Amino acid sequence: MNVDVFTLFPRWFDWFREQRHVANALALGHTLETSDPRESTPLKWGQVDDTPFGGGAGMVLRVDVMDAALRARYGVDPVELRSSRRVIALTPGGRLLDDALAGELAEEDAVTLLCGRYEGFDERILEHFVTDQVSIGRYVLAGGELAAMVVADTVFRKLPGVLGKDESALEESFSPALGGAPEYPHYTRPADWRGWTVPDVLLSGHHERVEAWRREQSRRRSLP
Ligand code: 6GU
Repeated sequence: MNVDVFTLFPRWFDWFREQRHVANALALGHTLETSDPRESTPLKWGQVDDTPFGGGAGMVLRVDVMDAALRARYGVDPVELRSSRRVIALTPGGRLLDDALAGELAEEDAVTLLCGRYEGFDERILEHFVTDQVSIGRYVLAGGELAAMVVADTVFRKLPGVLGKDESALEESFSPALGGAPEYPHYTRPADWRGWTVPDVLLSGHHERVEAWRREQSRRRSLP
């Protein structure tokens, strides 16, 4: 999986790359690369954004700047790019990220994530260069960077061999293995802390009863 991130703040991703499961993914040959539209901007003085036509607060990422940035990275007209890979703009109003979307993206060979800043993207970027708009929740972040990291995090951890144990991403909250339900509760040592004990069934060593208990807990947690 090759993840390319277009961001005005590429150094934010230095920290992200050092996180264990991301580092694991990179060691396996997956990539996370950043492109900074400021480096390829056709405008003097390195401008990348401008005030909105019609007035109003904030700055809008320019379509010519994003055109140049995508062209510089891929060497093709960005309008053509979207037939060969998912080009995803991180926008607060986009499709809400969930486990199903993460799974869908993990199946791709390559995805491009565009981070907006300030008031966001010129609408023509979304219309002509982008295949998907993704949001991580109905609230507004100062920019798409954190959202891009959230997307990359949840996608990388689904790739085989990235987590310590391969199974760990299979039977977890919201996964198909649990019928889309939240996960069952976990306990570890000590079995008694301040009188707070662990359900007997988990200490029973009875695999089938443990399984049945976990499904039931998971099911209960999914009730409204
Ligand atoms: Cl993807 N971007 C921004 N700027 N804010 C958000 C978001 C994305 N998702 C939730 N809030």
